[in-house]
Parts: sequence; structure tokens; C-alpha cells
Amino acid sequence: MILLRDTAWILSLFYSVTLIACETRKPNIIFIVADDLGWNDVGFHGSNQIPTPNIDALAYSGLILNNYYVTALCTPSRSAIMTGKYPIHTGMQHMIVYGAEARGLPLTEKLLPQYLQDLGYENHIVGKWHLGSYKREYTPTFRGFKSHLGYWTGHHDYNEHTAMETPGWGLDMRRNLSIAYDLHGKYSTDVFTEESVRIIKNHNISKPLFLYLAHAAVHSGNPYNPLPAPDDVVKSFSFIKNYSRQRFAAVLSKLDQSVGAVTQALADRGLLSNSLIVFTTDNGGPANNFNLNAASNFPLKGVKNTLWEGGVRGSALLWSPLIRKPNRIAKQRMHLVDWLPTLIDAAGGDSRQIMDIDGVTQWKALSNNEPSNRTEILHNIDDILGNAAITVGSWKLLKGTTYNGSWDNWYGPSGRTGYHYNVQQIMDCPAGKALLRINKAATVQQILDMRPQATINCSISDFSHQVNCNLLEELCLFNIEEDPCEVNNKAKSFPDVVAHLLERLDSYNKTAIPPGNLPLDPRGNPKYWNHVWTNFGDYFPDGGATTVINI
Ligand SMILES: *[C@@H]1O[C@H](CO)[C@@H](O)[C@H](O)[C@H]1NC(C)=O
Ligand SMILES: *[C@@H]1O[C@H](CO)[C@@H](O)[C@H](O)[C@H]1NC(C)=O
Ligand SMILES: *[C@@H]1O[C@H](CO)[C@@H](O)[C@H](O)[C@H]1NC(C)=O
Ligand SMILES: *[C@@H]1O[C@H](CO)[C@@H](O)[C@H](O)[C@H]1NC(C)=O
Ligand SMILES: *[C@@H]1O[C@H](CO)[C@@H](O)[C@H](O)[C@H]1NC(C)=O
Ligand SMILES: *[C@@H]1O[C@H](CO)[C@@H](O)[C@H](O)[C@H]1NC(C)=O
Ligand SMILES: *[C@@H]1O[C@H](CO)[C@@H](O)[C@H](O)[C@H]1NC(C)=O
Repeated sequence: MILLRDTAWILSLFYSVTLIACETRKPNIIFIVADDLGWNDVGFHGSNQIPTPNIDALAYSGLILNNYYVTALCTPSRSAIMTGKYPIHTGMQHMIVYGAEARGLPLTEKLLPQYLQDLGYENHIVGKWHLGSYKREYTPTFRGFKSHLGYWTGHHDYNEHTAMETPGWGLDMRRNLSIAYDLHGKYSTDVFTEESVRIIKNHNISKPLFLYLAHAAVHSGNPYNPLPAPDDVVKSFSFIKNYSRQRFAAVLSKLDQSVGAVTQALADRGLLSNSLIVFTTDNGGPANNFNLNAASNFPLKGVKNTLWEGGVRGSALLWSPLIRKPNRIAKQRMHLVDWLPTLIDAAGGDSRQIMDIDGVTQWKALSNNEPSNRTEILHNIDDILGNAAITVGSWKLLKGTTYNGSWDNWYGPSGRTGYHYNVQQIMDCPAGKALLRINKAATVQQILDMRPQATINCSISDFSHQVNCNLLEELCLFNIEEDPCEVNNKAKSFPDVVAHLLERLDSYNKTAIPPGNLPLDPRGNPKYWNHVWTNFGDYFPDGGATTVINI
């Protein structure tokens, strides 16, 4: 009897202790978004040209997400991360939010930081927002984040932090709602790195941390200086003969260093072994001078803002000691909208209670290496541009295109020849050393085994002469598992598959809401606001557009 009571007491004590332990063990979540980074810009996908040792160190120690999809453009992607919904379900499916547009991600949406707040997280955002800012209630500190050091529009100059877009030119760098004039001349990537390190250092560990770090890199700056980078860093890449690509390498290597510094800061604070780090691009890379940039998606087809694989198959990794089966190439199919339920489950929440999202939790699938529950991906439906694409099982259907088909090709560089991949650098870089400190660094053998598996080879001698699918005139169907480079259009051979995918597309289309885009409001022009992009809608009673500016 006594024994029984004691056992019960000990058991209840045990359970409450475990409960407390679980509570405090919620992982810190560091979500790093690279802007416009291409499939072939990271070392772990097989390019030897630009070293990304810090990013690679996390990739080999965690999961290389090799069957992972994003949306093709900034605003839609960020809306998908924040809501777990396809952009057709939030009205964000067409182009981007402009600084002078009286629009934002609808306030009726509950965002990722708000879900995490319910689970006890303290949330900070550093860097780019791009989900609306014409009124303060659309800005990050009104939507679940405790602090924001960064910018509201889609890009800015990395040194003086101005953004040039229709209809004007203005400063875009803030601390919460205050304009950060004092940061003038400080390189954006460094500013965001230092702020992230500061947040990690000062974080009160009684709460788990959610740090959303959305870099400006490697998005182009303004047209007068499209790829801003410190001169000495640019010079260190003089072995890259193409000057645009050389500058791109410098911008990317600053981003890579940032990943190292953040990982190191987590280790220094003793937080790394209970952290989860996501590194993802927002969309495919702008190659070949698209947006005045020099990314590479090789050998994938297309670029940013196209629905080819080069626009939507994203470079990404997930790192965490909580992953049960790490050090591998994750073949699980995943889409950007899946992060919201996945992170909620990783944080000990229950994503099944969230209705009405498109995201499918991948936490169990990724951690245990079980099959993904995602079979379909709606890449987008944009009836204004007239393009749409969907993947169902191993088939992908594309309907219509952008830019009148002028970006429907393959663009280099491949980065496979003439350069050397330095495995030792992955061990010796700050992220590599931080991982070593907690005994999680990948071995040389693991790196050498994993990298070829993450490399896509397409057996075509010269992509630039392949024209076998003209989206201006026909639908195109690819077996994306056998033909990831979208070379062989199978639409004519598999009419039943085409019909089935059109049916699936149609059923998504029936659930779409109209794009929320509005004409630009001339009152948002920075020239009226001391040359600053502002929350101009707060200063007008109607807060909305009156006169139309055609862009
Ligand atoms: C933003 O506001 C929060 C909450 O008031 C404050 O803790 C934080 O220091 C502010 N951030 C910056 C960068 O000023
Ligand atoms: C951290 O937060 C806890 C709980 O709110 C508080 O008691 C403690 O004083 C805080 N620690 C620091 C160093 O601010
Ligand atoms: C250099 O790279 C840019 C950007 O990718 C590209 O547009 C350009 O054609 C390249 N120049 C040469 C000479 O290859
Ligand atoms: C897939 O979904 C089923 C049904 O909801 C569930 O039982 C299963 O655990 C899921 N698999 C993974 C890997 O999440
Ligand atoms: C689009 O491309 C087609 C074929 O390449 C060409 O005939 C047509 O003039 C182009 N249309 C526009 C608006 O540029
Ligand atoms: C790609 O080619 C390389 C070099 O031939 C090879 O080692 C690797 O296994 C291939 N990757 C895949 C996924 O087939
Ligand atoms: C979606 O539906 C609208 C009408 O509701 C139609 O105009 C449009 O063409 C459809 N888009 C696609 C890609 O089927």
C-alpha cells in the first residue's frame, strides 16, 4: 500500500519534472532567408565556384532539402512562410507589394510568430519584410515580432539603404518604427548579422527564441550599384573572370559569413544544441543579368519569377540536433508553406489543430526519414500574367509563361570545372567549428558521400540549343523525377496525365481569391516624406489609393 502510494508520488513527480524539462526544452528557431539565391549558388549542390563553407557545414550536419520548393517571387514566398498558405489563398499571388501601394498581407491572417508566441516564444525579425507597410499595423512589430531592425520594401542599397522603385527613391532602414539614419554607410549584411548576434547574446533563455533573419543578400541593390560588396571581398574573388559573377560571389560570401557568425553566437551562448536552423532561399535565382543580378540555377531551367524548376526548386537546409536521422539528403517533397506546421510541431505544438492552411507538417517525415505526406505542389496561378504550374506525383504541368517566354531557358555558370571544392574549409569555418564544439560536425567522408547525391546531373551537352516546349503556344508536361531539368516535354505522349493535372489545377483555381494588388498611391512617394519610404496611410483618413499610377 505504502509502496504503491510512494510509487504514485514518485511517478507524478517524475511526470511534472519531465513536463517542466519539456517546457524549457523548446528549441530556439533561427530561420534564415536568403534573397534570390539560386539552386547552383551553394557549394552543397555541386558548384565549386563560390565557397559557402558555413552554409555547407550546416547542410552536411543536418538535412539537405533536395526536393524542396519555394514560390517564384519575394512577396508571395514570404507570405507563404508567414501564413502556411499558398499565395492564391491570401491574394498575394501576383507580383510584389510596392512601398507606395496601400496593401499588405491581410490583417485577418495569423502569422508564424503569432503561433509561436502562443507556444511561449519571443520573436525577433532582422532584415527584409516586404509584406506591406503603408500603415503601421501591417509592419512586423504589430504582427507578432517584438523587434525589427531592417527594411520594409523588396530591396535596398547595402550601404546607404535607399530603395529605388516606382514611383520614387527613398531610405528604407528602420529600428521598429524609427528611421535608422545612423546606420548610413554600414553594410546591410553586417548590420543584420550584428543585430542577430546581439539578440542571441541578450536573449533571456527563460523563453525559446524565434529569430527570423531575412537578408538583403543576394538580391541586387539599386541600378546604379546592383551588386554592392566591400572592395576587398570583391578582390578576393578575382579568380572569377566574369565581373558580375565576381561581385555576386562577394555578396554571397558575406551572407555565408553571416550564417557562420550566427551559428557561432548560438554556440557561444550554449544555445546551439537546442536550436533548429532553417536556411532557405525565397525564390529561384535571377541569372544572366535578370534584375541586374548574376545567380545560377544550373542545370535547372528558368529564373526567378518563372515557374520552371529554376524559379521554384529552392536551395535549403534544415539543421538541428533534434533531427533523429541527420547527415543526409532529404528526398521528402516539401513546399515553403510546410514550414509553419513543421516548425509548430518541432516546437512541441500540434499543427493538426490549425485548419485552413495549405502547409503539411514535415517534422516527423524529416526527422525520422519517413515518406512525406505532400504529393502535390501548386506552384502558382497568376491569371494576370497568365501562368500556372502544378506538380502531382512525378508529373509537372506548366501553363503559360512570363516575360513572353524570354526567360524559358537554361543559364550558367555550372561552376563544375576550373574550380576546387575545399572540404577542409567546411571544417575550419566558424559554423564548422561551432558544430565541432557540440560534437555535430559532419566528417570528411560524410561530406564526400552526400555532395554527389545532392548534385543534379542532366545529360544535355548544350541546354541553350534545346527548344522543345513553347509555353506561348502549348502546355508542357515533364516527368520531374526523371527529368528535373525539364528537357523532354511529354504532353503529347500523356494526354491523360495532362487532363488529370489540369483538373487538379482547376480545383485549386476554384479556391483562389483575386489578387489584392492595388494601383500605386502617389502619396506614398518618398519625395513627400523627406525621401523615406513610410507608413503614409497612417497620415490620411482614408489611407488608400486615390490616383492611379500605372507601373
Ligand atoms: C523595438 O521595440 C522593442 C519592444 O518595445 C524593444 O525591446 C526593442 O529594443 C526595439 N528594437 C529596436 C531595434 O529598437
Ligand atoms: C528572464 O525572464 C525571467 C522570467 O520572466 C525573469 O524572472 C528573469 O529576471 C529574466 N532574466 C533576466 C536576466 O532578465
Ligand atoms: C557575366 O555574367 C552575367 C550575369 O550572369 C551575364 O549576364 C553575362 O552574360 C556574363 N558575361 C559573359 C561575358 O559571360
Ligand atoms: C501522414 O499522414 C497520416 C494521416 O494523417 C499520419 O498518420 C502520418 O503520421 C503522416 N506521416 C508523416 C510522416 O507525418
Ligand atoms: C512574344 O514572342 C513571340 C514569339 O517569340 C513574338 O512573335 C511576339 O511578338 C512577342 N510579343 C511581345 C509582346 O513581345
Ligand atoms: C552526378 O554526377 C556525379 C559525377 O559523375 C556523380 O558522382 C553523382 O553521383 C551524380 N549525382 C546523381 C544524383 O546522380
Ligand atoms: C481560374 O479561374 C478563372 C475564373 O474564375 C479563370 O478566368 C482563369 O482562367 C482560371 N485560371 C486557370 C489557370 O485555370
